[in-house]
Amino acid sequence: MNNKYFYRSLLLIYATVFSFLCKAQKTIDEKVDSVLKLMTLDEKVGQMNQYNGDWDATGPITPQGDKQNQIRKGMVGSMLNVTGVEHTVELQKIAMQSRMKIPLLFGQDIIHGYRTTFPIPLAEAASWDLEAIKSSARIAATEAAASGVHWTFAPMVDIARDPRWGRVMEGAGEDPYLGSLIATARVKGFQGKGLGNTDALMACAKHFAAYGAAIGGRDYNSVDMSLLTLWNIYLPPFKAAAEAGAATFMNSFNTLNGIPATGNKYLQTDILKDKWRFKGFIVSDWNSIGEMIPHGFAKDNYDAALKAVTAGNDMDMESRSYIQNLAKLVKDGKVSIQRIDDAVRRILKKKFELGLFDDPYKFSDKKREQQQWNNKQNLQAEKIMAEKSIVLLKNEPFPSGRAGMGILPLNKNNLKGKTIALIGPFIKSIRDNLGFWSYTWPDDSERIISIWEAIKNKVGNSTNLLYAKGCNIDDTSHEGFAEAIKAAMEADVVIMSVGEAANWSGEAKSRSNIHLPGVQKELIKAIYATGKPIVVMINAGRPLIFNWTADHIPSIVYAWWLGTEAGDAIADVLFGDYNPSAKLPMSFPRAEGQIPIYYNYFNTGRPAKNDSDLNYVSAYIDLPNSPKFPFGYGLSYTTFSYSDIKLNSTILRPGKALTASVVITNSGKYDGKETVQLYIRDMVGSVVRPVKELKGFQQIFLKAGESKTITFKITTDDLKFYNDKLIYNYEPGDFKIFIGTNSEDVKEAGFTLQK
Ligand code: NOJ
Repeated sequence: MNNKYFYRSLLLIYATVFSFLCKAQKTIDEKVDSVLKLMTLDEKVGQMNQYNGDWDATGPITPQGDKQNQIRKGMVGSMLNVTGVEHTVELQKIAMQSRMKIPLLFGQDIIHGYRTTFPIPLAEAASWDLEAIKSSARIAATEAAASGVHWTFAPMVDIARDPRWGRVMEGAGEDPYLGSLIATARVKGFQGKGLGNTDALMACAKHFAAYGAAIGGRDYNSVDMSLLTLWNIYLPPFKAAAEAGAATFMNSFNTLNGIPATGNKYLQTDILKDKWRFKGFIVSDWNSIGEMIPHGFAKDNYDAALKAVTAGNDMDMESRSYIQNLAKLVKDGKVSIQRIDDAVRRILKKKFELGLFDDPYKFSDKKREQQQWNNKQNLQAEKIMAEKSIVLLKNEPFPSGRAGMGILPLNKNNLKGKTIALIGPFIKSIRDNLGFWSYTWPDDSERIISIWEAIKNKVGNSTNLLYAKGCNIDDTSHEGFAEAIKAAMEADVVIMSVGEAANWSGEAKSRSNIHLPGVQKELIKAIYATGKPIVVMINAGRPLIFNWTADHIPSIVYAWWLGTEAGDAIADVLFGDYNPSAKLPMSFPRAEGQIPIYYNYFNTGRPAKNDSDLNYVSAYIDLPNSPKFPFGYGLSYTTFSYSDIKLNSTILRPGKALTASVVITNSGKYDGKETVQLYIRDMVGSVVRPVKELKGFQQIFLKAGESKTITFKITTDDLKFYNDKLIYNYEPGDFKIFIGTNSEDVKEAGFTLQK
């Protein structure tokens, strides 16, 4: 084929596909309009109304009301917490008895898995593995969609700089760059090849916006922040989710600079719908419309409905403000019918895209549900995701002073005929492994692998295992210590599992004290005093504070909550079948007094030179400024060394690229994966710029002894930020580049961006 002919045919194909797509698009819009034309005002308002089902609740339960009758009357557009083929079919059948026969949407918090529970999202974020994160969402969607669910209230893309806030477990941590990439991966994972496929869920980017900055880390609390911080730090993951095609957004409980997010026109209409051209719909959070009354922003429910709908909120989750007031608001001339039509159009469009008008029961398929119920491949994928999420915090020689690496990984063969003592409140945990946003199924306990079971399977009969709980999670008593000390004394190695309960993080689970609860620290001290080699494993849904442990225990593993296969994943890591590769997505503080804590802070006019500099500088007199473990930190059983940075030029011109390379060598004994991180600092700006900002990372696998050159390409796109006029652009001047293994341990170089 000659070139001319080839390009003409290509053009023809493009034109045909384009016109087909336009036609298909038009058809859905036309269909939506034709339905809308037939609807009464009450039916329109019904589409904007969402109730909780009667089987489960994820918020304060509202007096029941006759939901089924309301569905029959077309007064309900969506239900949440209705799942399973049986229940979804039951309610959908009732919706089909309504005059307009508009199918219900079923939404649920599929936050980290459905049937197969995946690691909590913060743990997954520690993998920095976007493909794996995407597949985790893909599997969750496939399982949930087979049970009749259409819509997940995920991903949560709130930036979190405060580990007291219980919901840090649901997000991707503190960084806007990593957070944006993970937001994209999760949206794409949930929505798969597109709505309408029976394995795709509608995603919902939440909580729009800035919920993660609740004052004092207390859930539902107010947020007060500059627009610069909002645009540069908190909004980017939302923008990424919108660009990735998230079908829906959820607003949030918090006020932002005095205005509740739910009644915030600037956020919902000006930014999301107008500036970002978001075509999906916005759902409120649970009763967040009604909560504008106690906020002191709305006088009553009538006023709350008015403020929410005018601001751009399309669907009301559980406040009943819309169903009770919207029609009247229209009749009173307070809300235009155009605004109602816009909201209903957005909702109906998604129902059409999902294919529910063709088949309202499309997602409720008994056979598919059963196929997904015990899907072994999903469990296998879960285990891999869990392994990738485990962070090795420390692995130093034991006893200290000896050269070389720590006692991890444990060697199965060397432990034959020997004894391991397994001590701590989580060793035999089952349900805890799943974390906060997970479901309990009848046969769950048989599927979930405890640490005890997994280690028993790993070492077989030839290694003797001892167990002692030592204490409960928040005990005040030392009663169990003696048994634990005895077990440790009889053992050659001790593995301890400590932390906070799985339901101590999540919604409404803020803590003012994020140290290890109860007497767990004392238990660690008592076991340490036996002089036995010891590994401490920490399970938690947030960064905890454990300074004594971090300073004394040579081998520490952060295991979060890892899901159905938690035990096996942990055993694989402890015994070296997986070499840890995860990196912290949040800074770990030394004390609550450092919070909010994050690596991308501003320098101040009096920066401390180091952690002990107190010469009238910005510092605490009783605490270093630095975190205990920094953002991006995580070890491997091997070691990686970094060469100096090589730049192809120290001058960057707009429209051109600059390359920065380092040679990474696996200088240890094991093959392993490293996440090489690129940070940039803009030295002088029209507004002050952070001391470092993550701008890229690459994951590489190196065999022991192997070296590779890693190259990052830098363009002006990497240097853009929102200035005080909220214009997104770069500014010429000097920049620093940092490449390293975490946000603190980096090599440094510099370049100048010319005009
Ligand atoms: C309130 C939570 O803030 C939100 O994230 C969740 O999706 C809804 N409840 C529904 O459970």
